[in-house]
Amino acid sequence: MVPLGIYIHIPFCSTKCDYCNFASGVYPESAVLPYLEALREEILGVKGWLAESCKPLPRLDEFEVDTIYFGGGTPSLIDARHIAGLTRLVGEVFTIAANREVTLEVNPGSVDSQRAQLHVEAGVNRVSIGMQAFQDDLLKRIGRSHSVADSYSTWSLYRSAGISNASLDLIAGLPGQTSKGWQENLDAVEEIAPEHISIYLLEIHEGTRFGSLYSKPATVASGMARRGAGAGAPQGLAAIDLPDEELVVDFYERAAGRFSQMGYRQYEISNFALPGRESRHNLKYWTRQPFIGFGCGAYSHLADWRWGNERSVGRYVERIRQTGHAIEYSADLGAVEHEEEAVFLGLRLTDGIGLAGFRARFGVDLRDRYRTPIAYLQQAGLVEFVPDRFRLTPRGWLLSNEVFTELLR
Ligand SMILES: C[S@@+](CC[C@H](N)C(=O)[O-])C[C@H]1O[C@@H](n2cnc3c(N)ncnc32)[C@H](O)[C@@H]1O
Ligand code: SF4
Repeated sequence: MVPLGIYIHIPFCSTKCDYCNFASGVYPESAVLPYLEALREEILGVKGWLAESCKPLPRLDEFEVDTIYFGGGTPSLIDARHIAGLTRLVGEVFTIAANREVTLEVNPGSVDSQRAQLHVEAGVNRVSIGMQAFQDDLLKRIGRSHSVADSYSTWSLYRSAGISNASLDLIAGLPGQTSKGWQENLDAVEEIAPEHISIYLLEIHEGTRFGSLYSKPATVASGMARRGAGAGAPQGLAAIDLPDEELVVDFYERAAGRFSQMGYRQYEISNFALPGRESRHNLKYWTRQPFIGFGCGAYSHLADWRWGNERSVGRYVERIRQTGHAIEYSADLGAVEHEEEAVFLGLRLTDGIGLAGFRARFGVDLRDRYRTPIAYLQQAGLVEFVPDRFRLTPRGWLLSNEVFTELLR
């Protein structure tokens, strides 16, 4: 059987955070059931609409779902029975592996003990909690709807409900974030002792509140790039609040050093895990394993196909009603795209890219293929070769988008 990941997007949130560019928002209660009904239809009909849209269609009965990921938005906000229903539905449509990983993204303060218990009964065995920061004033300032106390209590609820595989998210580079505040974050992580930690560098996106407050329209470039390494430095008075580049580098390096002492291994640019606790689902994204995403704005990857769904909730529901799917764009990857994808996804992993595997897959030596940019990037201290592997250096992790641009231009 071929392992398959399933992603299910729940776009509903209690507030829209100032930095957030995900397909998510605050919707009236009346939007929830039609959306869930559309999700059901999309999942139930997957084999039919895939047969029409994805050719040649891989044999779906050869797949076994070994990871399910409920992301958002705030999937912990909806009635837990819906999470149970959707998980069951995936089991009706696909073969499910006994040792599956079922992850739920959780916002602090969005659950009580009964709901956490119901999540576990629904089959959730991993949670990822978006704590972001451990200062109430900072949480308020970035538009979060929860307090630090909510982060702690939500954590305890899932531990009490029996969850022994849990992750927390922090954002580095938030406006007003100080060295002392970052130290408090690291102390809090140590106290909480999660199995997995994600540290994201703040990205500023056009169309968000931060996008209009801080500088030029920002790209999907990393927070570091935003700070002047290429994507346009912050402009205007408000930008004064953003910690400068050196400070954010310091945050990231302090986190990496401290987590390493605590026994975590950094396995991806933003992710740290205790041994064996890496996110099996997210690893599929970076190792180019097949996954199907359901819901508005969800992405999928199956064989040579990549596709993405309509982002708007209303149009997603409408499209599902009309055609059974909501594919907004799709691409049939050719040899060049496969190779480029293998480079920029492989470099996100701290182990980097195996040279022998690359040669076997693409029939070319990576060192020859990218000789000129590699020489330049090596000199800049951003990439390195270790026995039979090519990878980013720690400095390269911070400037990863610039490295990818240079390599793939
Ligand atoms: C799918 S998102 C949101 C999950 C959940 N609704 C929440 O807010 O906690 C997953 C994570 O991405 C990170 N994130 C979202 N927008 C970001 C941005 N503009 N810059 C950096 N990190 C971001 C946050 O740490 C967030 O927890
Ligand atoms: S709760 Fe999460 S998904 Fe919702 S707006 Fe905030 S960051 Fe975005």
